[in-house]
Amino acid sequence: MHTKDRDVWEGEGVIVDDSDRSIRLAVSMLRAGRVVAVPTETVYGLAADASSPEAVSRVFAAKGRPADHPLIVHLGTGASLADWAQHVPSDASRLADALWPGPLTLVLQRHPSVPMAVTGGLDTVALRVPAHPVAQRLLEAFGGGLAAPSANRFGRVSPTTADDVRVELGDAVDLVIDGGPCDIGVESTIVAFAGGEVTILRPGGVSSEALARVLGRRALTTVRGPVRAPGMLASHYAPTTPLELCSPDEAALRGAELVSSGARVGVLSLAGIEVPGAAVVWDADGEIGAFARSLYRRLRQADAEALDVLVVALPPDEGLGVAVRDRLRRAAHR
Ligand code: TXA
Ligand code: MG
Repeated sequence: MHTKDRDVWEGEGVIVDDSDRSIRLAVSMLRAGRVVAVPTETVYGLAADASSPEAVSRVFAAKGRPADHPLIVHLGTGASLADWAQHVPSDASRLADALWPGPLTLVLQRHPSVPMAVTGGLDTVALRVPAHPVAQRLLEAFGGGLAAPSANRFGRVSPTTADDVRVELGDAVDLVIDGGPCDIGVESTIVAFAGGEVTILRPGGVSSEALARVLGRRALTTVRGPVRAPGMLASHYAPTTPLELCSPDEAALRGAELVSSGARVGVLSLAGIEVPGAAVVWDADGEIGAFARSLYRRLRQADAEALDVLVVALPPDEGLGVAVRDRLRRAAHR
């Protein structure tokens, strides 16, 4: 739902373009404690002034998110980590120097000035410097940290366009800045540091191979199991359509079986899998970046197409494929 003149703000929940005027408007709303949806290179975020517990509480209300689930604080390139984190391990500094701005979130000991509303009562804070030029311009103009979860209702599919945000959140968001479709399409990689260990809490836009290269190590631990992080719940990123996850070898046969049982079937794969009679067949020309970029759009489309089932051929478990498989597993979990 776009306004006729996208440079004019006509009310609540409106999508505006990424002009300087829109950025100024967004800054004035953020300073007034309102919530603004912002494009990042991963997914759209729902931003509020991280220094204001009241503003942050509006984010939780808009998403329907439990208050003990912490938010990521987004910082501009000029921000000082020391204002947000009490202690920065050398591994964290190396990752920040090499990979920020970018789709990487570092969990560090929180500075006492970071509100508990942001950290969900934890003594750590998640920090990220996003690479999207619109997010950067907004952060620079705002001059502080912006607490921003993905701009979807709790447990649902993350938005990768401004229109997705409107559909997800309606008037619960005061303003949506349209920065075009997100480049990466899955959320940031979250990394924590404890006792000299570097642990991946959530696989994402930076691969574990890239992290290991920066750190000069061969492998990093990846957490499996319950963590107090909604992205780590067994069921998350969930469309209404049931998913069936298969290996590429099994997908065509499974799709054909479901078609012959009378189901309205969709098929999603990295590279063309033929299923005669399927309602929709989507692939990504064999390119994992394109698969990740279109993943959440496809999950939304599966719902819009009223599919009975979406058969997904899982991509290889390496690089960006690790994050894609993680999201698919959670989206498939009932
Ligand atoms: O790419 C992204 O990270 C996007 C964009 C908007 O930046 N943001 C995002 O936020 O995915 P959200 O809230 O949907 O997911 C953030 C994850 C949650 O799983 C949260 O629990 C975890 O980060 N997190 C935040 N603070 C944490 C902390 N102190 N310790 C452990 N996990 C934390
Ligand atoms: Mg999220």
